[in-house]
Amino acid sequence: MEHMSVIHKTTCRICKGPDLVKILALGDHPPVDNFLSEKDIAREKRYPLDVFFCRACNLVQLLDVVSPEELFHGDYAYFSSASEPLVRHFEQYASDLRQRFLSDGDLVVDIGSNDGVLLQFLKDYQVLGIEPSENVARAAREKGIETLVAFFNSSLADTIIASHGKAKVITANNVFAHIDDIDEIIRGVRILLADDGVYAFEAHYLLDLIQKKEFDTVYHEHLCYYSVKPLIELFRRFEMDIFDVERQETHGGSIRVYAGKKGAHSIEPSVQTLLQLEKDAGLHDEQTFAGFQKEVESIRAKLLEVVREARTEGKKVIGYGAPAKGNTLLNYCGFTADDIAYITDTTPHKIGLLTPGSHIPVVSPDILKTETPTLILLLAWNYKDYILEKEADVRKRGARFIIPIPRVEIV
Ligand code: TMP
Ligand code: ZN
Repeated sequence: MEHMSVIHKTTCRICKGPDLVKILALGDHPPVDNFLSEKDIAREKRYPLDVFFCRACNLVQLLDVVSPEELFHGDYAYFSSASEPLVRHFEQYASDLRQRFLSDGDLVVDIGSNDGVLLQFLKDYQVLGIEPSENVARAAREKGIETLVAFFNSSLADTIIASHGKAKVITANNVFAHIDDIDEIIRGVRILLADDGVYAFEAHYLLDLIQKKEFDTVYHEHLCYYSVKPLIELFRRFEMDIFDVERQETHGGSIRVYAGKKGAHSIEPSVQTLLQLEKDAGLHDEQTFAGFQKEVESIRAKLLEVVREARTEGKKVIGYGAPAKGNTLLNYCGFTADDIAYITDTTPHKIGLLTPGSHIPVVSPDILKTETPTLILLLAWNYKDYILEKEADVRKRGARFIIPIPRVEIV
């Protein structure tokens, strides 16, 4: 944590143009996956979370880049498999890839493979994970998935070709929006990909972010907030086509993008359909974002009112789920352990630590078998239906959930 560093860019990550306008300012935040213990509090650092829109290519992005070594170092807190619905999502994703693109003996390479959440369902092919966080890679290896501890780039692509050959499918889920030098990733993908191969990635989708006010999905790891329009431009520069796009429900609304070498795949109507949808929603127009800051401020005001009123009445308020985005929300609202007594989370690695910035203790969800808080702030709101059902018991005992996004509701 001592060597944290940040660079401030002045040009667009895709088109390299300088014409960028700030559309959202959330203040200074610590990196959201740096859960910490008491002794590390004094060394915690904060960096600005400002979101910009590129007037030239329309990419929405952060310009303050915290070094990846610091965000995704040896001891990373996010394990995809801690969320059961996400595991089911990746099982379906694997089945889609299998049916559409894969044959016996093919190589599948997953960039940012985390704990092997996708590759575990493709082990009958040749699979290779690439994961920079040592502790997370270890979990994948324990599932029998060959995993390199590394950041992907073009020289690693050459190394993989020498050891494994070319890849039929390369995936990069919830990581392609996390990388500053996306050009280098695509160069690497082009090198490693078979001529008829497929590069598939998932990322949170700007259309969902704007329509559902998902401001908390803004954090330093998420450098890009993609829409289809700038992505098409990006891949065109590398002589690649986006040939299919699908909306997904994960993480509050994502897109899965399929790209290939130019001309290798016929382009599905979905690409034009989503482009039109974005255009109709004004995503390519600066004006659309003009009111976003105010809308986000009003969510904060409402949350502060609900939580502080309950606290004034001496009621207990806790948090449910300690996802990365929960930390953006907590820090933006300025909540501390005086407001939110503790937060439950299923990730063994997070339990026993404090949330970054707000320093709220993370505990096992088992506590809700015996305790009945008055209000439970649902930070993992993307699993709302699943969690409300799972926690039927504490709700029957009288606890009510605060749903923060897309509008503050108490259920
Ligand atoms: P995610 O939305 O980025 O997948 O993160 C979800 C976080 O919430 C992760 O830390 C695991 C946690 N979680 C729970 O504590 N209980 C649950 O039922 C689910 C689905 C997730
Ligand atoms: Zn641009």
